[in-house]
Amino acid sequence: MKTKVSAGFPLGKVAYFVTSNVHKFQEARQVLSEYRLATAKLKVEAVEIQDDSLENIAKYSALDAVKNCGLPVLVEDAGLFVDSLKGFPGPYSKYVYNTVGLKGILKLMKNIENRSAYFKSVVAFVTPEEDPICFVGKVEGKIFLQEKGTSGFGYDPIFEPHEGDGRTFAEMTTEEKNVLSHRGKALRKFAEWYSGAGKRRF
Ligand code: IMP
Repeated sequence: MKTKVSAGFPLGKVAYFVTSNVHKFQEARQVLSEYRLATAKLKVEAVEIQDDSLENIAKYSALDAVKNCGLPVLVEDAGLFVDSLKGFPGPYSKYVYNTVGLKGILKLMKNIENRSAYFKSVVAFVTPEEDPICFVGKVEGKIFLQEKGTSGFGYDPIFEPHEGDGRTFAEMTTEEKNVLSHRGKALRKFAEWYSGAGKRRF
């Protein structure tokens, strides 16, 4: 099994983040740096199952990744849940993004008044010796009427967080998105735990 590690920046403690998504990696690196944690992007095989629960998807991937590399790893899984679509696409966000995309979601939402939606992120941490532990973050917002902004990735151009100033995530810098985002919240919970007293051994 080939394992490729590219380091974030060299600080004391390292979090090995299994992802092929460079945007997710940049977001994680920025959040974890606030806790003086370095982030390494780990390229290792990690199966992504289809399941109704983001927790199950993240845990399963993390267990598979740790089996393949033998390191303590972080895996993250996220989804967009649209209220008027009964939580769709939710755990199927990736498939929906890759098939009908933003235009498909906007079409489904045409003439729908209730545009409330939320993003959820589950960060799973697992070591070769211990069971996975999950950290969850959520951000409430609404689906904008059209695509707006060019930063970020995925559904960012159509998601406007309630606690923001009217911009979509795609109109924000990584730092601004991280303050409000599902991933920022989940990663901060992880970072507090990981850099805390209970986990000095990692
Ligand atoms: P996954 O976590 O990579 O499985 O993401 C599922 C789908 O949601 C993918 O299509 C991503 O592009 C999208 N997605 C995940 N996180 C975000 C985000 O922070 N902003 C926008 N889209 C996201």
